Amino acid sequence: MRLNPNPLISAGQLQARLPALAEEISRGAAGTPLVVLVVLKGAVIFASDLVRALRVETELEFARARSYRGCESQGLVELTVLPETPLRGRHVLIVEDILDTGRTSVALTDWVRGQGAASVRLCALLDKPSRRATAIAADYTGFVIDDHFVVGYGLDYDEGYRHLPAIHVLEP
Ligand code: IMP
Ligand code: MG
Repeated sequence: MRLNPNPLISAGQLQARLPALAEEISRGAAGTPLVVLVVLKGAVIFASDLVRALRVETELEFARARSYRGCESQGLVELTVLPETPLRGRHVLIVEDILDTGRTSVALTDWVRGQGAASVRLCALLDKPSRRATAIAADYTGFVIDDHFVVGYGLDYDEGYRHLPAIHVLEP
């Protein structure tokens, strides 16, 4: 695997997208406080920029999902870290790094609904719609991208590259 040194999405483009995205989310929240559920680890850097641009009160919670995609035709998703706060009656915004097959987001939104949340919305920094294997769509999307494997700004390959300030394509 080789890192393409030319960013697919530059640090400037990432930062420039934040105000409009935050405005959309703030308007959707209409003044009600949100539980921002950050999906570890990939969404941490994006979420830390996003929450500082929101105009609504937020509480931060974290979740971690692990997917098994071996020989099973349907990937199984196991939630290994869950929020500490009860979500019953709360308005929850799930923040994901990337919506790929959608299995992680489906598992998480189902779980959050099962906890009795008043509402569940999904914000994904990146969306790869061509890879979708489930019927989920993000309520808020940063950027739609083609089917590339991308790293940086929180996204990893084997835990590497998360620190890069821009999004780069990792080429085979
Ligand atoms: P899902 O297939 O939508 O469930 O995505 C699962 C997870 O796979 C995402 O949250 C990412 O952590 C990871 N992932 C999917 N596509 C990429 C990519 O292009 N780069 C880095 N991680 C990815
Ligand atoms: Mg990963």
